[in-house]
Amino acid sequence: MKKLLWSLTLFGVILSLRVNGEFDKMEKFTDFNGTNVYQTENHDVNSKAKATMVGLTLIKNAALRSAVCLDGSPAGYHFHPGSGSGAKNWLVHLEGGEWCSDIESCEYSKETRHGSSKHMEKKIPFTGILSDKASENPDFYNWNRVKVRYCDGGSFMGDNENKDAKLQFRGKAIWTALMTDLLWNGMREAKQGLLSGCSAGGLAAIFQCDDFKLYLSSSTRTKCLSDAGFFVDATDVSGDRSLRKLYNDVIQLQSITNDLPDGCLDNRSPTSCFFAQNLVNQVKAPLFILNAAYDTWQIQESLTSKSADPTGSWSNCTFNIAKCNASQIKFFQGFRSQMVKLLGAFKEQRKNGVFLNSCFSHCQTENQDTWYSKNSPSIKNKRIAVAVGDWFFERGGAKLIDCAYPCDKTCRNLI
Ligand SMILES: *[C@@H]1O[C@H](CO)[C@@H](O)[C@H](O)[C@H]1NC(C)=O
Ligand SMILES: *[C@@H]1O[C@H](CO)[C@@H](O)[C@H](O)[C@H]1NC(C)=O
Ligand SMILES: *[C@@H]1O[C@H](CO)[C@@H](O)[C@H](O)[C@H]1NC(C)=O
Repeated sequence: MKKLLWSLTLFGVILSLRVNGEFDKMEKFTDFNGTNVYQTENHDVNSKAKATMVGLTLIKNAALRSAVCLDGSPAGYHFHPGSGSGAKNWLVHLEGGEWCSDIESCEYSKETRHGSSKHMEKKIPFTGILSDKASENPDFYNWNRVKVRYCDGGSFMGDNENKDAKLQFRGKAIWTALMTDLLWNGMREAKQGLLSGCSAGGLAAIFQCDDFKLYLSSSTRTKCLSDAGFFVDATDVSGDRSLRKLYNDVIQLQSITNDLPDGCLDNRSPTSCFFAQNLVNQVKAPLFILNAAYDTWQIQESLTSKSADPTGSWSNCTFNIAKCNASQIKFFQGFRSQMVKLLGAFKEQRKNGVFLNSCFSHCQTENQDTWYSKNSPSIKNKRIAVAVGDWFFERGGAKLIDCAYPCDKTCRNLI
């Protein structure tokens, strides 16, 4: 164990030296190819296998390329190479971590892993969709797998800075630098590519989906998966649309307007074009929407947030469904109905996939428990990993919406 810790420390030192060191041409990860892999104690009580730990790679020459986090430190990602039949397939997964919408909230994020690589874990477990074990991740386990860290506070869309507050909003440059480096490192020869992401990263996977397709060759089978990125433009318990205000602030602060999809901006405001519901029907590449119908982030942080419910009359319910009264459940059912309706036309498109389960949850691809384990959530006996694989490889049956709460007994509810 001591030896392991020592090698990890050494690894951290090497990494940080690299960051401060000179940039010497773009090279094919000769110094670090992401294969520094460690076995760790088991995080998932339901799985006997130990998760593979994958080291953090910081974007080289980040400052010159503007590929920096809120605090100006280099953005980064974790890369685990593919092998065998997966050696030419690439999964790029975008981490989530909310948005920061004003100087104060961005200054707060700056001191966390969601705003600075100085605070990021130097290695993370690859589980769920990132797992390298066939028993945990049947279709993507031997692909090249990349987890991109989220540190721009703007769903990889920002293009601005605030000099007074020493804040960088460089999501767009991070995305571009990431694509350049991954292409250079072998993604150029990709036979199949999947861009996925969770939460704010799930929304980014929708924003960047067609761009991802453009980066890859036209003969590459390229698709996108948004996990918990379908935040709905809904009224909260006070009757306000608080998410609109938040999105509007993010767009202003980070100068995002010009980068939103033209097809949406033609008939809608920039704020509307930050909502997945106004984007998904225009995405050209095949897209899979995976969402809990009662997304816990939206329920807790938006629909019944402190500003929507200042007296806290909802808090017993939103932190424990068993304590909700009939009218509160009715409110949630209305929210789910909107989501189902908004996905109607999307679901009709042959290329798309949907998995909308009536669970109180948020992000279901990254955890082994929800992605693919013995008792993970399923609709019509199909677990999430199987539904996503069936859609990607066109094996059929990947448009799954279950009945309203409480009918789904397979949920891993968070509340
Ligand atoms: C790069 O990856 C190969 C396996 O693909 C490994 O043998 C080698 O040690 C790695 N190099 C470094 C510097 O990590
Ligand atoms: C929440 O639950 C506590 C303990 O059961 C109870 O005392 C309190 O009145 C409840 N609050 C509301 C707003 O229902
Ligand atoms: C349910 O709870 C909410 C929030 O505490 C309250 O405003 C409402 O009157 C309650 N409804 C019923 C039917 O008890």
